[in-house]
Amino acid sequence: MSVTEQPPAQPPGGDPHQEPDLARAALHDRIAADSLTTRRDYLRIVATVSGGLAVGGLGVAAGVLPRHGDTEGVPEPKKVTDRLLPGQSISFRYPGEEDRAVAVRLTDGTLAGYSAICTHLACAVLWRKERGSEGELYCPCHEGVFDVRTGEVTAGPPPRPLPRVLLTEEADGSVWAVATARSGESTKDALCREFKDSDSPVAGRLGCRGAAVQDQNQGEQR
Ligand code: FES
Repeated sequence: MSVTEQPPAQPPGGDPHQEPDLARAALHDRIAADSLTTRRDYLRIVATVSGGLAVGGLGVAAGVLPRHGDTEGVPEPKKVTDRLLPGQSISFRYPGEEDRAVAVRLTDGTLAGYSAICTHLACAVLWRKERGSEGELYCPCHEGVFDVRTGEVTAGPPPRPLPRVLLTEEADGSVWAVATARSGESTKDALCREFKDSDSPVAGRLGCRGAAVQDQNQGEQR
């Protein structure tokens, strides 16, 4: 796997980097989504899966002002970049064109994705590679600092961790954003929230509450 799984700290919602199966489930789930664009994008990804896709780690966060994770329905997947090498970062917009986000490849290969909207007063968060052993996410407005592995606040006035953007990596090295999670929200909870209305079998496999009830009802009707 191209993404390592060794975050030093656990965010409140769980480890954002240790749920590759959920990311894989999300990928397949999107195939069944209503949007033709979504379907096309995911078919493209899954075609690569059949050729040996290595699902990358997951990055997440939770936002406030313009708040990631509050989108209606399931956001469409978005290709972030063709390649992201260790020590590199890239800014992008996800899930909407107003939602600033940042993806970082740590030196050990870990992929991390976050909202780049500071949870204090919504200034733009920047990646500072040279800070500390792994770099940091920094808000210049009031010296807010976030841990790049977890999104947790390590300094300054931000009241919440950065919302995460869930990322996956294709075998060809391209990086995709597939979902968002709110501050402190686990990957599973984020996926269940986003997929709960999509009539998706993956929601059941994930153990999402609503999906489980639906499956049970269907079973009773048979
Ligand atoms: Fe980011 Fe104040 S807006 S620290």
